[in-house]
Amino acid sequence: MVPQNAKKSSPDPVLDATLRPRNWQEFIGQKKLKANLWVAIEAAKSRGEPLDHLLFYGPPGLGKTSLAHLIAAEMGAALTPTTGPAIERTGDLAAILTNLAEKSVLFIDEIHRLAKPVEELLYPALEARSLHIILGRGPGARTLELQLPTFTLIAATTRPAMLSAPLRSRFGTTWRLDFYEAPEIEQILERSSRLLNITLAAEARRLIAVSSRATPRTANRLLKRVRDLAQTRGETVVSPDTAREALRMLEVDAEGLEPTDRRLLTALIEQFRGGPVGLKTLAAATAEDEGTIEDVYEPYLLQLGFIERTPRGRTATAKAYAHLGKGAVARLL
Ligand SMILES: Nc1ncnc2c1ncn2[C@@H]1O[C@H](COP(=O)(O)OP(=O)(O)OP(=O)(O)O)[C@@H](O)[C@H]1O
Ligand SMILES: [Mg+2]
Repeated sequence: MVPQNAKKSSPDPVLDATLRPRNWQEFIGQKKLKANLWVAIEAAKSRGEPLDHLLFYGPPGLGKTSLAHLIAAEMGAALTPTTGPAIERTGDLAAILTNLAEKSVLFIDEIHRLAKPVEELLYPALEARSLHIILGRGPGARTLELQLPTFTLIAATTRPAMLSAPLRSRFGTTWRLDFYEAPEIEQILERSSRLLNITLAAEARRLIAVSSRATPRTANRLLKRVRDLAQTRGETVVSPDTAREALRMLEVDAEGLEPTDRRLLTALIEQFRGGPVGLKTLAAATAEDEGTIEDVYEPYLLQLGFIERTPRGRTATAKAYAHLGKGAVARLL
């Protein structure tokens, strides 16, 4: 059983909220997804109907929550945000559902962490907008069926594999968010630096972009740290040297890898001769949480082609050996 306690909440919710795209144009990248959503939104609006239930999945910080907010705004719908672990009992969900405004959006983040009875109560709500409440216990128990307002569920998860098949099948559409291209991250940095009152030299912006794990949230976080260093150096325009130095101090390397990424790769190569090794064993060897490895670190290492997932576990690729340097290759021989 995969542990469910993976670190999930954003490391800097204030920064997230400050820099969240305010409109559709400010949401950079994910072009195919945006185009598809746009058609669905326009069609629903012209029919005067709510949007079908939607599921977004993908690694943290790629824009799932931002999209949920933008869709609700575009539909002119109120958004009620909550999270899987916050809905502890069926009564909590019943209270949320019965209080929804007509044609509103319910956003459930971390939907993979919904308790089973809560999930089961959600099924008829999604299918027929009906809520089944059981009154009393034992042989005398009765079921009361309530009609709910029309609503759209937008759910987000970093762990689509943990969703049960019946839950997954109840979404009209399911969308994967991909990592961003460097020029897209540069565009995001351009906007963020404007909002944070920073002027970046073009090369400084490029350096931050390539170090950002192809992830907008990471780019914004790095930008803030670079700004701090520029301030102590009295720079009005952030120089490439300052960007480089800030990244060096954060121990982020040229591929955007952080110390934990390198520790994982080093363990995989040195302790397990490049694998294959199971996630559990790797987690134990590095004292990292299994869920965090799977959610946060592994997707980017897979994207870079530094590791591969095989049925027998994770393996390090030649690219990973090359990145960690000659020593790693020598140890393999
Ligand atoms: N496409 C985008 N364009 C501009 N900024 C973006 C984009 N996607 C994300 N961001 C920035 O990254 C931050 C994090 O995005 P968001 O909270 O939507 O990610 P998430 O996928 O919900 O992450 P998590 O899985 O951790 O909940 C946002 O506040 C925003 O500043
Ligand atoms: Mg989110």
